[in-house]
Amino acid sequence: MDTNVQKKRESKKSLRIKVISLGNAEVGKSCIIKRYCEKRFVPKYLATIGIDYGVTKVQVRDREIKVNIFDMAGHPFFYEVRNEFYKDSQGVILVYDVGLRESFDALDSWLTEMKQEMGSQANMESIIFVVCANKVDLTKRRVVDESEGRLWAESRGFQYFETSAQSGEGISEMFQAFFSSITDMCENGGKRPNPEVSIGFTKEQADTIRRIRNSKDSWDMLGVKPGATREEVNKAYRKLAVLLHPDKCVAPGSEDAFKAVVNARTSLLKNIK
Ligand code: GTP
Ligand code: MG
Repeated sequence: MDTNVQKKRESKKSLRIKVISLGNAEVGKSCIIKRYCEKRFVPKYLATIGIDYGVTKVQVRDREIKVNIFDMAGHPFFYEVRNEFYKDSQGVILVYDVGLRESFDALDSWLTEMKQEMGSQANMESIIFVVCANKVDLTKRRVVDESEGRLWAESRGFQYFETSAQSGEGISEMFQAFFSSITDMCENGGKRPNPEVSIGFTKEQADTIRRIRNSKDSWDMLGVKPGATREEVNKAYRKLAVLLHPDKCVAPGSEDAFKAVVNARTSLLKNIK
């Protein structure tokens, strides 16, 4: 065969990508990578100092993918070291610990840090994100449930996985889906699919469910001022009911949010003359 043709075919088949791990210190980023690459788990905490770098090869369909993994330190102390490594990533593994709410709440600020550091190069549409709800083996200390994590991830077009670096649950599924999505994106001109088309619910629905979960009382849940009239309560209720009715809304947690709204309305109306 003509050597040029052969070279061309080989270069179509092989692909080089860069992926990074992000999330608070001690959530299990390094252990997830170690579980996948070395098939083992280290119970002792060894904080990543700045950054760890590794290379692995994976097969996706007929392509060989060379993966450069940059495992970031989560501790704020290493910000200066970390910030240089955001650029040119095709994939990001976002990790939180299901037993630590602050590590889940911090995901937004990790995205902000990344956007800031990428500067004018920031094109988040050309990056595949996966979210790992890690340490699911520690069921007794779990405080962030699946629907809450899934909602945060899927409303942004990110895939969500429940993982345990300790038991291995979800790890190979996550990496397989991650590398295959990156390959799809590279083959499709570097754009990931529109999340609303693929997930079937809107950002407004996702944001409303999150707001309802975090509301401090029934007034707040319905989005009306304390002391509102029956009409105001009913109007707010109807708007939320249309948005979240289980027949219409498939977002994770929508059923619970809908029930909470019904209960909030009932309890408010009881006390309004
Ligand atoms: P930094 O490098 O400091 O950012 O932390 P990291 O996110 O890389 O955390 P690391 O992987 O070092 O894990 C932190 C601690 O959590 C270690 O003691 C691990 O053994 C433990 N750990 C990680 N994943 C799991 C898990 O899935 N289950 C349990 N039970 N422990 C885990
Ligand atoms: Mg680490």
